[in-house]
Amino acid sequence: MAKLIVGNWKMIGRKAEAITRCRALAMRAAEAEDNNEETVDVVVCPPFPLVDAVAATLSGSPILVGGQDCAAADDGPHTGDVSAGMLADFGCSHVLLGHSERRQTHGEIDLVVGEKAAAALRADMVAVICVGETERERRDGQALSVCARQVAGSLPQGAGGHNVVIAYEPVWAIGTGKTPTASEIAQAHQHIRAQLSRHMGDAEHVPILYGGSVRPDNAIEILSVPNVDGVLVGKASLSVDEFWAIIEAAR
Ligand code: PGA
Repeated sequence: MAKLIVGNWKMIGRKAEAITRCRALAMRAAEAEDNNEETVDVVVCPPFPLVDAVAATLSGSPILVGGQDCAAADDGPHTGDVSAGMLADFGCSHVLLGHSERRQTHGEIDLVVGEKAAAALRADMVAVICVGETERERRDGQALSVCARQVAGSLPQGAGGHNVVIAYEPVWAIGTGKTPTASEIAQAHQHIRAQLSRHMGDAEHVPILYGGSVRPDNAIEILSVPNVDGVLVGKASLSVDEFWAIIEAAR
C-alpha cells in the first residue's frame, strides 16, 4: 500500500494562511504527479472553521482533507458538536479520533472513541483512531497493553482496511521532540497489528501510522520501520517545506 502522511494542524491558524499553505501543497503535489513520482497518500486536518476553505483550495489536487474530531451522534440537538456527515458534506474523507489531546482534555474514553468511529463509518469516512501510552505507562511496562486495550475498545463494528487507520502516538512524544527508538516503534506497531487481527479478517490492510515529533530529519528512519505505513505529523505539518520533506521521505 502507498504510505499515508496525515497533517494535524490542531487549533492553529487562520483562513488566509491555510489557503496559502494549501496552494503551495497543491502545487508541489502537481509537480510530483508530473514527474511520475511514487504515490504517497496525503491528508491535511484543519480546524473545523477552515475545512471548507481548505477543501475548496485543494479540490482537484490529490491531497485529501480530514476533520480533527466528530460527534458520536448523527445530526441533531448537540450544541457545539460537528457530525461526521457534516464533515463529509464539506469534503472530508478522513477524521482523526481519540487523539491524546482529546482523550486527556475532553475525557474521551475508548467507548466514546469507538462510537465516534462508528459515526465516521456511517458517513463513509475513514476513521483515524489514535492510541498511545503516557510516559508513566511506558515506565511501568504497560505501553503495549495500553495500546492493545485502546485498539480493542475503540474499533467500531465493520472496521476494516478500507475504513480504519490506526495512529500509534505515544503521548510523551507528542510535541516534545522526543521519539521512541526504531525498535520500540516496531514493537508497538507489531503488537497493534496482532491486536487488529483478532478483530478483523483483513488486519494487514489497516494502515498503522506513527505520530509524535515526526520531522524531516527522522522521517526516513521512522518510515522504514516494519509495520509503519505512514506518519501523523503535528507541528511540522504547519510548514510546507517540512511537511513536504516528510512526504518525500515516504517515496
Ligand atoms: P507533533 O504532534 O508532530 O507536533 O508531535 C503529533 C500529533 O499530535 O498528532
